[in-house]
Amino acid sequence: DRIALAFSGGLDTTVCVPILEEEYGYDEVVGVTVDVGQPEAEFDEAEATAAALDLEHHVIDAREAFAETCLDAVRANATYQGYPLGTALARPVIAQAILDTAIENDCSALAHGCTGKGNDQLRFETVWRASDLDVIAPVRELGLTREAEQEYAAERDLPVEGGDGGAWSIDTNLWSRSVEGSDLEEPSYVPPEEIYDWTQPPEGGHELLEIEFDEGRPVALDGEETDAIELIEQLNAVAGAHGVGRTDLMEDRMLGLKVRENYEHPAATVLLNAHEALEDLVLTKEERSFKKQVDHEWAEKAYEGLLAAPLVDALDGFIDSTQERVTGTVTIKLEGGQARPVGRESPYGVYSASAASFNTADVGGGIEQNDATGVAKYHGFQSRLAGEVIENASKP
Ligand code: ARG
Ligand code: SIN
Repeated sequence: DRIALAFSGGLDTTVCVPILEEEYGYDEVVGVTVDVGQPEAEFDEAEATAAALDLEHHVIDAREAFAETCLDAVRANATYQGYPLGTALARPVIAQAILDTAIENDCSALAHGCTGKGNDQLRFETVWRASDLDVIAPVRELGLTREAEQEYAAERDLPVEGGDGGAWSIDTNLWSRSVEGSDLEEPSYVPPEEIYDWTQPPEGGHELLEIEFDEGRPVALDGEETDAIELIEQLNAVAGAHGVGRTDLMEDRMLGLKVRENYEHPAATVLLNAHEALEDLVLTKEERSFKKQVDHEWAEKAYEGLLAAPLVDALDGFIDSTQERVTGTVTIKLEGGQARPVGRESPYGVYSASAASFNTADVGGGIEQNDATGVAKYHGFQSRLAGEVIENASKP
């Protein structure tokens, strides 16, 4: 029997290869690496490790599907506890690509190298368990620690770089770079500059960017139309140079464990800030307030790897309807690690400069400033009454 393994060439997935053959009795392991915008070096590592293991290896390009998912997340202003969800959004895309590759290559089972403590096992398996293929999770099932994996790799002379797989556990894709583990597991430990790769410490100076949206989707940068992948890559570079998009947080995983996470996500920060600034202009107060709840639910499902849930279809119905007017341009200022909206325009702005202005006497539409006098008399009526009632009741 053949089994497809989600393969990165890192320590976890490398030790899985002999384990699947020897402990689980599979005749052949097929390694699948899915491209969601990792750095080139990761593919070189995966290729080299696969070659050294004599592993059948497939690399699948899923960047376009993934980039579209990231832009869906922008329409939902999606963050989870301050994290723009890069890993979470990528996992279902990766899982689906591996499942498709497994079926095309006559595999009867699927395996991943996730632990039993994390989120990724759940995100992979919800996609895989919808198929007839068996699902194997060696690291979880055998209770392997990183130390045990290192020993196993050393004993068998497996091709793992330096034997320790690097100091941090890093997960990178187009949308974010996550760094966890090792010293960072101590929440009071202040991360050294070396954990960052996409962002420079801000050095002064500023830069303005113009982002154009069409129905909630960013379509152009500084007047130039770009596709989703290009746009995200460009923004990661320009905003990263200003130190934009660093997050250090305590994250509540699905199983309830808190973990300390560090993320870099320059493009996500720029696009999320710009998108929300445009919504602030074109949506009514009620829409903005209700959309916060819709966005929150959307982000929770994204974190759980459950964007295929029927609830999300329903949420998307609301999001689609609001986004019909999220068309226009936002100016973002990159400065000192921040990406601040500093200008916005749209043909759908629910805004009248003359109505709000201090320089005009009337509001327009037949409403005069003095019409507010009655409203001002009523405003706070109940609080004043409550004050009187309390005072009277406390008199002897
Ligand atoms: N905690 C994040 C999530 O669940 C990212 C985990 C990334 N993995 C890593 N080994 N750095 O989405
Ligand atoms: C893992 O535990 O395998 C990685 C982190 C996660 O899935 O949350």
